[in-house]
Amino acid sequence: MKIVVTGGLGFIGSHTVVELQNEGFEVVVIDNLSNSSLDVLDGIERITKIKPLFENIDLRNKLAVQNFFKTHHDVAGVIHFAASKAVGESVDDPLLYYENNINALVYVLQEITKLQQANFIFSSSCTVYGQAEKMPITEDASVQPAISPYGNTKQIGEEIIFDVAKVTNLNSVLLRYFNPIGAHSSTEIGELPLGVPQNLVPFITQTAFGLRKELSVFGNDYPTPDGTCIRDYIHVVDLAKAHVIAMQRLLNKRNLDKVEIFNLGTGKGSSVLEVINAFEKVSGQKLPYKIVPRREGDVIMAYANTDKANDVLGWKAAFSLEEALASAWKWEQKVRS
Ligand code: WQD
Repeated sequence: MKIVVTGGLGFIGSHTVVELQNEGFEVVVIDNLSNSSLDVLDGIERITKIKPLFENIDLRNKLAVQNFFKTHHDVAGVIHFAASKAVGESVDDPLLYYENNINALVYVLQEITKLQQANFIFSSSCTVYGQAEKMPITEDASVQPAISPYGNTKQIGEEIIFDVAKVTNLNSVLLRYFNPIGAHSSTEIGELPLGVPQNLVPFITQTAFGLRKELSVFGNDYPTPDGTCIRDYIHVVDLAKAHVIAMQRLLNKRNLDKVEIFNLGTGKGSSVLEVINAFEKVSGQKLPYKIVPRREGDVIMAYANTDKANDVLGWKAAFSLEEALASAWKWEQKVRS
């Protein structure tokens, strides 16, 4: 069966393409290469020995999206990763985010709801919860007003999907990721942040490799055991496997509602200092860091209640924080060699 993966050359997208191919799906990748490169396609092929069909399409181009689905009208499902995802950048350039993350979604939904079947996995984020009152966070925790245009595009995207599913053949699973980290064990694919990494783990691995002088820890005066923020760091391969399971759920019509929501995390919260300690343990290296003032927009604590994903989706994260950090470090060393 043919599955389209938009943003399939990105960090989570590429790992999901590998897991889809491992399960025997025929994969068509759409990517506009704005935050990835064709080397990733070669990396996928080196892992699975199957080169996915690739179309360099910008999903903001409505005609290009229409033509694509005219050609690929036999598509069984779409996994939609293609979106801009840098919180800070979204504050500086909101229209880039509303155009890229909303228009593209609308054009894809317009086309797939004309097809025989419209099975759609949406890449969402725990960002929609803002600072949730209760930990661990369940899927029925209230969606808080977004604190960034990026987070708002995820909330709006979810609302669009609910509205469209009510009146079309659309069936969808919204996957709310916590913090994806790590890389495929082969070190053929991994996270390739452009420029200065915004996220914690790529900044740690680049610092350990000597590309950055030291890590800045954004605040240690939070109301947490060691004063630093707590997050749920999940291995990207665990995350990728959840997408395949979610797509199979829709293809086999096992979904209980037209739109279902699942939190994808490990269920374990780790502070920034705990991540640093774990990294030093797995890498055998001391990590230079300094405490600096808090970063605007950071929530204090966010980690997932994974009962629904475990019990209903039948998925559970397998890798530990240490294993995920070790894979990120192995990838950093490989990609710099
Ligand atoms: C994690 C923790 C920082 C960098 C964001 C998006 C989310 C998803 C993942 C896209 C925080 C601290 C970080 C650094 C630090 N993105 N930190 N020094 O902010 O939880 O989530 O990225 O889908 O939607 O919101 O991830 O890795 O940026 O930060 O101290 O150099 O590490 O303060 O506590 P975040 P992060």
